Amino acid sequence: MTLTTTLTIPRPDDWHVHLRDGSILEAVVGHTAAQFGRAIVMPNLTPPVTTAEQAVAYHQRILNALHKTAPGSQFKPLMTLYLTNNTTAEEIRRASESGVVYGVKLYPAGATTNSDAGVTDVLRYCGAALEAMQECGLPLLVHGEVTDPSVDLFDREAVFIDRIMIPLRKQFPALKVVFEHLTTAEGVAYVSEAEGDIGATITPQHLLYNRNAIFSGGLRPHWYCLPVLKREKHRLALVEAATGGSKRFFLGTDSAPHVKGRKEQDCGCAGCYTALHAMELYAEAFDAVGRLDQLQAFASENGPAFYGLPVNQDTITLQRQEFEIPDQLQLGDEVLVPLANGRKLAWSIVKA
Ligand code: NCD
Ligand code: ZN
Repeated sequence: MTLTTTLTIPRPDDWHVHLRDGSILEAVVGHTAAQFGRAIVMPNLTPPVTTAEQAVAYHQRILNALHKTAPGSQFKPLMTLYLTNNTTAEEIRRASESGVVYGVKLYPAGATTNSDAGVTDVLRYCGAALEAMQECGLPLLVHGEVTDPSVDLFDREAVFIDRIMIPLRKQFPALKVVFEHLTTAEGVAYVSEAEGDIGATITPQHLLYNRNAIFSGGLRPHWYCLPVLKREKHRLALVEAATGGSKRFFLGTDSAPHVKGRKEQDCGCAGCYTALHAMELYAEAFDAVGRLDQLQAFASENGPAFYGLPVNQDTITLQRQEFEIPDQLQLGDEVLVPLANGRKLAWSIVKA
């Protein structure tokens, strides 16, 4: 067996990213645009992106930031709408016709960063919106965790499947659904076996690390994201899903920038910053199990197939060449700490 030393694949896409707004947007958009052709951009701004009009305006702000910081980039942001108890069928149709919106995000109220305006009871309040999405073919992108405080934090994804996902999909069987940032063996089993049009994104941190990373030698805020890292058996199930050839699993970094001070405080924000080195991290995870041959399907093909979009025509090339993750990034006035800062990865992008 010869050791693979370079890997050229169609340019990948990121099917779940947080680009934020204002100065953070300007700081981070170039990183995502350097590696990915397209990205599904999360709508959890303050205030959230709840209307087609807001999505169109945010789309333009992203393009403006891109032209300012990465002129000439061909990167295409794919926008999402933030589902609320009050989202109307008309708003869904406007979003679908806007030409920039590719999905609608379900945040259970209180589940994560900027989710206070999220949905309190999706089956009770969102029927008309879900019906319209089903008709328009607009996918529902799901943060799949219950918020019931009596449910252990580590069990919230598995409980969500039984309490919400299964009844919801029974009621709307033709609705396209993405189970975002899947983190458990139960989630993998559900997405692998469920009937109908379902996919799931998987982050690099959930492929590479388990929950020990959050507590190694002390409390490590930069390894804290939501859904939180789980036990090793869950990581192994995710690696098997991502590298096992099923078309239902695809790349979604969930890169979620928070400035250093907001992570390193007594109530630190959830989110790992991976946009800088996403493909290097994924290559590390696939290489660790000898499945680099599956990276192309996971990163470049399965996502477009799910969303009904073409695979990107240009390519990127990774090389087995050490990449040292910077300790921190000074981006304009902002300081961000990338995930696994100071560590070395075996793969680098040599042509993007
Ligand atoms: C995300 C954020 O910061 O916006 N944080 C995270 O830990 N992933 C929100 C989210 O996707 O849950
Ligand atoms: Zn996210």
